[in-house]
Amino acid sequence: MDWENKTIGFAMCGSFCTFKKALGVLNSLTQTGANVIPIMSEMSYETDTRFGAAKDFIERVTAMTGNEIIHTVKDAEPIGPKGLLDLLVVLPCTGNSLAKIAGGIADTSVTMAVKAHLRNQRPVLLAVSTNDGLGNAAKNIGALLNSKNIYFLPFAQDDCQNKPCSLVADFDKLQDAALAAFEGKQLQPLLGL
Ligand SMILES: Cc1cc2nc3c(=O)[nH]c(=O)nc-3n(C[C@H](O)[C@H](O)[C@H](O)COP(=O)(O)O)c2cc1C
Repeated sequence: MDWENKTIGFAMCGSFCTFKKALGVLNSLTQTGANVIPIMSEMSYETDTRFGAAKDFIERVTAMTGNEIIHTVKDAEPIGPKGLLDLLVVLPCTGNSLAKIAGGIADTSVTMAVKAHLRNQRPVLLAVSTNDGLGNAAKNIGALLNSKNIYFLPFAQDDCQNKPCSLVADFDKLQDAALAAFEGKQLQPLLGL
């Protein structure tokens, strides 16, 4: 695949415990030669947590990609009319953003980016990370599995004893899932045994 001719949106939602891992796969993605446009939800752009300070993540994401971070609805909107992206990755994707995307709500930078990008009938790749993946969010995952131009990174339960409804995507499958999505396919297996 000719990554160097691709422009890929990399959108991060507020699953802060996965940010360290997310930055690792973001770094690998930039090393393919693709032009990576970073997007952070308002929550992830503005919130310091025990997993790190927002300022530090912002600096690292900007340095890795060499591009300014889109972090407002206003700045995400042109993704549609400009046809800016070949692929939009949402990694990590929270239960909150899953619900909004499934419900057609676009009131954050990330959900607006998804809406704007889908208008161009190009692929979106979701990497779920949510404690209610097999609970309240399951219906939204189901709806999105059945939606045109939306694909998932393979996911699994991450701690079935202590968090029986929790699901997390296998972030390391990002590039394989992207290659499949560019061909209009869902990377398989979606669920492991
Ligand atoms: C420390 C911390 C960790 C969180 N981890 C997760 C998570 O792993 N998955 C999730 O769906 N929400 C998580 N949340 C909740 C989301 O950040 C919250 O629902 C937020 O509104 C998401 O906004 P966004 O989807 O626009 O980023 C966490 C919140 C905090 C403060």
